[in-house]
Amino acid sequence: MGELKIVENADWNIEIGALSVLSSKHIENTPALLFDRIKDYPAGYRILVGFFESLRRSALTTNLPVDITREGFIEACRRRLATNFSIPPVTVSRGPILENVYQGDDIDLFKFPVPFWHKRDGGRYIGTGHVIITRDPDDGWVNVGCYRVMVYDCNTLGMNISPGKHGRMHRAKYFEKGKPCPVVACFGVDPLLHMIATRPEPYGKCEFDAVGGIKGEPVEVIEGEITGLPIPAYAEIAVDAEILPDQGKEEGPFSEWTGYYASGEKTEPVIKSPPSLSSQRSNHHRLAGVSPHRAGRALLRIAARRIHSGPGGKSRRAGRERRRKLLPSLLNRHLDQAALPRSCAPGCICRQSMLGRRLSRPLHRRRGRRHRCL
Ligand SMILES: Cc1cc2nc3c(=O)[nH]c(=O)nc-3n(C[C@H](O)[C@H](O)[C@H](O)COP(=O)(O)O)c2cc1C
Repeated sequence: MGELKIVENADWNIEIGALSVLSSKHIENTPALLFDRIKDYPAGYRILVGFFESLRRSALTTNLPVDITREGFIEACRRRLATNFSIPPVTVSRGPILENVYQGDDIDLFKFPVPFWHKRDGGRYIGTGHVIITRDPDDGWVNVGCYRVMVYDCNTLGMNISPGKHGRMHRAKYFEKGKPCPVVACFGVDPLLHMIATRPEPYGKCEFDAVGGIKGEPVEVIEGEITGLPIPAYAEIAVDAEILPDQGKEEGPFSEWTGYYASGEKTEPVIKSPPSLSSQRSNHHRLAGVSPHRAGRALLRIAARRIHSGPGGKSRRAGRERRRKLLPSLLNRHLDQAALPRSCAPGCICRQSMLGRRLSRPLHRRRGRRHRCL
């Protein structure tokens, strides 16, 4: 069907990030990439990127006919937003997520091929196309959001949650009481769950219910042994743990998908087993995952639109030819692009540079600033 390309022998260090950008670049209906036999990892420890990058895959994900037109898709989404069906999740006692359960010293997050996506990132990021599950300690409602997750070491994670996000509100409520915040970080989930987690559902509304409404059946969840939080039974990796109120570590930066850094590194609370309990209860931080041959991961991609625009890109053939010539330089540019500062040169007023895009020199001159675009 042309919806998937398998890429073997790529390096988790920068190469997967670069190939993910180069393969998509805002072309319509590009195949998803499934990386297998990743450098330093056995076959079967796979990474999936670009799972929404075609209308057919988006339709499949959202329970719509795969031959739907773009207009039909938009119309169906509008109708759904207006009707807002919801079906709460159902708790089951078993599921593929329980096939392999690691506890205490057996937990090693680097068992999975966590990529180093961009040259100036602060570390290796496992959480890009994933979900984060938390519960309101007062009202009990469960939120499913998506906030990036960095791996510090084999059993410590860092997470960036912006102010105003529901997961952050939950965390603040626990921290105000001096308590750790129970959290589940889930990787390799149903793409629909990730899609809905990145949408601002109203405060108090659980994303599992919205997913159930779209699928027409409840999401099956198991109960996390540490946190009691609902964990999708068919997720590929889940970390059942706590965010600690009294331990912070430098997190970030991480390049935005548009190709720039929105912020530098910041101190964020770490996700780990509580130090006071870890020696007595070494299983306090638990990692559950499906069998390695199915271990996979989903992520967002970074766009490099420029390769398709501008003179010479008009006909498909000319565009193809231009891309072929540009590819090597674009690879290098991608690696550097994420490091662009918010302003391209001191005093420059060009707004595009704040979006991380390079400008041609004539445009800079028109704006009255004569300098080379960085
Ligand atoms: C791929 C992806 C990554 C994201 N990463 C972050 C992040 O690191 N931090 C953050 O605060 N929001 C991030 N967001 C945005 C949130 O997921 C989005 O605002 C969502 O509505 C948050 O859920 P909440 O409203 O339940 O808190 C990301 C969105 C996407 C699509």
